[in-house]
Amino acid sequence: MFAARYAAITERLSQGDSDVWAVHDRALEMEREGADVILLSVGDPDFRTPDPIIDNAVSYLRVGRTHYSPSLGELKFRRAVADLETATSPHPCSVDEVAIFPGATAAIYAVLSCLLDDGDEIVIPEPMYVGYTPIMAALNASVTYVPLDGERGFVLDTQAIKAAISDRTRVVFINTPGNPTGSIIPAAKIRELADYCRERGVWLLCDEVYSMFCYEGKHVSARASANHLDNVIMVDGLSKSHAMSGWRMGWVVAPAELVQHLGRFSGATLFGSPQFIQDASAFALENDQEYVESMRDEYRERRDLVLERLNAVENLRCIRPHAGMFIMCDVSGTGMDGSEFARRLLEEQAVSVIPGDAFGPSAHDFVRIGLAQKRTVLKRACRRIREFCDGL
Ligand SMILES: Cc1ncc(COP(=O)(O)O)c(C=O)c1O
Repeated sequence: MFAARYAAITERLSQGDSDVWAVHDRALEMEREGADVILLSVGDPDFRTPDPIIDNAVSYLRVGRTHYSPSLGELKFRRAVADLETATSPHPCSVDEVAIFPGATAAIYAVLSCLLDDGDEIVIPEPMYVGYTPIMAALNASVTYVPLDGERGFVLDTQAIKAAISDRTRVVFINTPGNPTGSIIPAAKIRELADYCRERGVWLLCDEVYSMFCYEGKHVSARASANHLDNVIMVDGLSKSHAMSGWRMGWVVAPAELVQHLGRFSGATLFGSPQFIQDASAFALENDQEYVESMRDEYRERRDLVLERLNAVENLRCIRPHAGMFIMCDVSGTGMDGSEFARRLLEEQAVSVIPGDAFGPSAHDFVRIGLAQKRTVLKRACRRIREFCDGL
């Protein structure tokens, strides 16, 4: 008989995933059984991809842009990314510093694969985006988590990050605007961190997929913030800003030498990204002002609506996010932690939120509330959350 044996990566990848999504998975099950569930546990934009982008992709499909493309991406799209970065940064950006990937997730996986050997150390603040965990596990990285303080709105503590860097640290990984925290790291802090990392021979990797969804304050990319660029890498993409999560388009801006390595990595694993999607993505970046702004304005309205309603509920305390698609809500005033609150809220009121623990132990007393629902749905969800809290 054949005894199936797998590589150790499969073991590392299968740890912990059921806990993170337990509430969300149960919500989907309840929905299938016919319950009127409100899902606030998703991070997928509810907007349609804007029609001009769809039309553009279709037109490129029709003219046969359906073949292999270079591993680093189509020149036209790389140039669009470089131009965007140049326009928002004091440092001009060339196409040699840009690599295209099918989504930020693949981009982060590729970058970390090119920087970390088995067991190398990566320093990362938490709470953090859940999608980082399997990437770091797959690469068998040694992860040093730096807890952020919910009382202070989970703002980045640069001193704590610096203190966590050891001689074994190869990468510091930050995310601004943050998921789940919604906080924006100011340019001065990024600059300080980038300089410090450079002195210590450490890369600074910054995930910026919510860069276009700032409500107050301004996003300044890691590359625009830094004094020197030789240790700075940024990742961004179209999933959130352009409601294009299913198109899988993202990119890395990094020193040209690393970009060459990324090209080889991409050649070995992906063999390029679809031509017509890159064509339409270049079009999106060059013609996006109006619809990105209108989606951002809608998210802002939703954020204000949820904040106003939930902060009026006794025992709940929401942190005001300055960016992104989520609100972190401290539920410890109810006597429950985030996990119990999320579980009971789903069973009793059919509203699905993510327990803070999914993002790291510092968010134990929190739940994450997603804003990817229409305002009428959010109003109903807030009413149910209030009823749940009133009934405790
Ligand atoms: C912080 C963060 N980075 C990356 C991603 C994934 O982006 P992509 O769809 O481009 O892979 C997400 C998705 O939720 C995210 O929140």
